[in-house]
Amino acid sequence: MTRKRSLSGIKPTGTPHLGNYFGMIEPAVALQETHDPFYFVADYHALTTGRDPARLRQASHEVAATLLAAGLDPARATLFRQSDVPEVQELAWHLACVTGVGLLLRAHAYKDAEAKGAANELSMGTFNYPVLMAADILLYDSDVVPVGKDQLQHIEMAQDMAGHLNALYGNCLRRPEAFVRPEVATIVGTDGRKMSKSYNNTIEIYLPPKKLRQAVMGIKTDSKGVDEPKDPEGDNVFTLYKVVAPADKVAEMAARYREGQGYGYGHAKQALYEALEALVGPQRERYAALLARPSELEDVLQAGAVRARAVARAVLDRVRDRVGLPPLPR
Ligand code: ADP
Ligand code: TRP
Repeated sequence: MTRKRSLSGIKPTGTPHLGNYFGMIEPAVALQETHDPFYFVADYHALTTGRDPARLRQASHEVAATLLAAGLDPARATLFRQSDVPEVQELAWHLACVTGVGLLLRAHAYKDAEAKGAANELSMGTFNYPVLMAADILLYDSDVVPVGKDQLQHIEMAQDMAGHLNALYGNCLRRPEAFVRPEVATIVGTDGRKMSKSYNNTIEIYLPPKKLRQAVMGIKTDSKGVDEPKDPEGDNVFTLYKVVAPADKVAEMAARYREGQGYGYGHAKQALYEALEALVGPQRERYAALLARPSELEDVLQAGAVRARAVARAVLDRVRDRVGLPPLPR
């Protein structure tokens, strides 16, 4: 039986952080055991905000290296760069032609800009972002899309757009489903808000050990002392520990919080740091080795692009046929 396809993308806009890791990378990598994984570096998307070509090239390699260091197997997975399959831009056009402006006016990014009185300054690229993202998903006949909770609206929009095109022209696009693991839907940052580059509260995945420890020690807590009982729920250190450590260790930490007695936030932070280091330590070495050999990373991305492009062209030909265009030139 052919496997269902899982597909996701990460923007190369900064060095990946623990929110990306637990919210998307780890679940996406795990899906390779049961699904046909298609993952890409969303470099077209990064252009909505980036203006630094050298940084874009470097960050694209960092994203690819992160997925591989986290365990993605390039022999089984199709790992590619979005812009190596420019057919996605054409599908975005077909989707744009059947999508009302009203749908895009409901997008979070647009509404946020509107609330700030900055809607007119929004670039067309940012406004169209959900259309390009829908094309990313629909171009590969994706079944499931592993993402963090913040991306759910975009996936619903992709479902809507596929529905419009299918209704107008007859079935030609597969309806995708979001895959969000509830326990990691939103990873908190060092200040307790959603971990995000835009809040400056991230912990990068592959920080050197000293820096990682420093970042963990900087997580905000309340000021309860070592001997006071503490409530684990709602504490930022414990919340992160829950996603990193095994269940018995998590239960042990919860019990020590409640007891108080000689167990302060410093102890909890040290335990969190050790759990993180046990997880990312071996990955960090692989990550550094991959980045040190950019030509090998390129080989993986190019091989992925060849596989991705074959699927993309078949799907796009289906759409072209429905709307009345000739097959793509060969
Ligand atoms: P950022 O918000 O830092 O710009 P991205 O938008 O590049 O992060 O996110 C890439 C992927 O990581 C997406 O699937 C997103 O849902 C997921 N993700 C990002 N931050 C978090 C978080 N704090 N918790 C869970 N998932 C997250
Ligand atoms: N918008 C996603 C983010 O900001 C990245 C992305 C682009 C994506 N295209 C996608 C995710 C397709 C899943 C599927 O994180």
